[in-house]
Amino acid sequence: MSSGSPAADLDCVASTNNGENFSLSEFFRTEATTLLGRVKPFSDYYRESRAMGLAHYGREIVSAVSNRVRVRGIDGTTREMVMFGSNNYLGLTTHPHVLGRIQQALEEFGAGVGGPPLLGGMTQLHMELERRLSIWKDTEDSLLYGSGYQANLGWVTTLLRDDDVLLYDEYNHASLYDGIALAATTTNLKAIRFAHNDTEHLERLLIRVRKGAVSPNRQIFVAVEGVYSMDGDLAPLPRISELCGEYGATLVIDDAHGTGVTGKTGRGTSEHFGMKDGVDICMGSFSKAFGMTGGFLSADREVIDYLRFCSRSYMFSAHLPITTVAGVLGGMEVIEREPERIVRLHENAVYLEAGLSALGFKTFREASIIPVRIPVDVNIRDVCKQFDDAGIFLNSIEFPAVKKDGQRLRLSVMSTHTREDLDMAIAAFEQIGRRTGIIPDVTV
Ligand SMILES: Cc1ncc(COP(=O)(O)O)c(C=O)c1O
Repeated sequence: MSSGSPAADLDCVASTNNGENFSLSEFFRTEATTLLGRVKPFSDYYRESRAMGLAHYGREIVSAVSNRVRVRGIDGTTREMVMFGSNNYLGLTTHPHVLGRIQQALEEFGAGVGGPPLLGGMTQLHMELERRLSIWKDTEDSLLYGSGYQANLGWVTTLLRDDDVLLYDEYNHASLYDGIALAATTTNLKAIRFAHNDTEHLERLLIRVRKGAVSPNRQIFVAVEGVYSMDGDLAPLPRISELCGEYGATLVIDDAHGTGVTGKTGRGTSEHFGMKDGVDICMGSFSKAFGMTGGFLSADREVIDYLRFCSRSYMFSAHLPITTVAGVLGGMEVIEREPERIVRLHENAVYLEAGLSALGFKTFREASIIPVRIPVDVNIRDVCKQFDDAGIFLNSIEFPAVKKDGQRLRLSVMSTHTREDLDMAIAAFEQIGRRTGIIPDVTV
């Protein structure tokens, strides 16, 4: 570990190619002296790409987000597409029970709360959701945040103090990186990343940290994700938890993509591994399996009490709208009553991955996210446009979101995808894959 200024130990903040952490602004720096001059290079580039149909970001959806969506194209017309670009894994956004819960809450409580939780923004439903989450996560208490992003910012900036050490997986989400950057403005915490899912590297760092000069107050934190969003792989949680126990570190897991879908009853990655305990703080998001917005932290009561009154991204932001809270509660009830949704999701993911692998695509799957590698010499934007033309809505993940040779298409599977949806995707992959030379063209 290096010493010196706090920033010297932050080897992380401006990273451009590790997991979901980057900023495009780094590519459009100019010496311009006006605001317009500063932003125009990006704006020109973006408009040009869009006009060519090569920028598939922020597509305009004109229907509910389900297994099929209606999308407006650049010519202004709309058409139906099969949706593989949403993390609405269980199709809850259109479930009648979820919609009914939201309507009932709207009638009973109105549209919103108009304030932060500690100052008049807390309702019975918010408290009920905290209680339910604590049962799901088998913890004493939980705390709702406006987003998963805020939840990550919340624990990092509130719990870490001077001389603390945070060891984190290099593929952690941007919100953790931003939390570290913000915490570094007020503490001299040391944040060190370890190679993705490399528990030997983590152990070497733990040994190094333990050997280093120790301030009596220093605490060690380890941060990982349950399911990694770009690669769809799981953290080796049992081993990481064991190491944390051995070296006296606090383990925090970001289970944004695990909550609701991973484990037999969807309680998350700990359930998947059959772990009763061994995770100190669990963070989750409602923007994935629940298809809504919002985030939370679950932990021991004293930790949550402290965060409730000291975490600025909680205290200084309005509480979640009541409709969102009701929708998440409804979603949890659906997951409990209809466990077959999770079974179906996994069957769909296995089917799609098998179909793509059989064609010769380089894929990997442990969860419901299927990344399909696109060779570095292939123009991924052009490939994505061909999928768009074929009516398949998927996400193109390219540099700087991942390393240049790690570019990929990312498909998020839903339990509501039909066999026809999945077969349409496989057929499109076959056609486009052969046309672009990603897989061998047997007809040649
Ligand atoms: C792993 C991970 N953590 C945190 C977040 C942030 O969650 P939210 O969308 O609720 O702000 C995301 C969202 O992309 C994520 O993938």
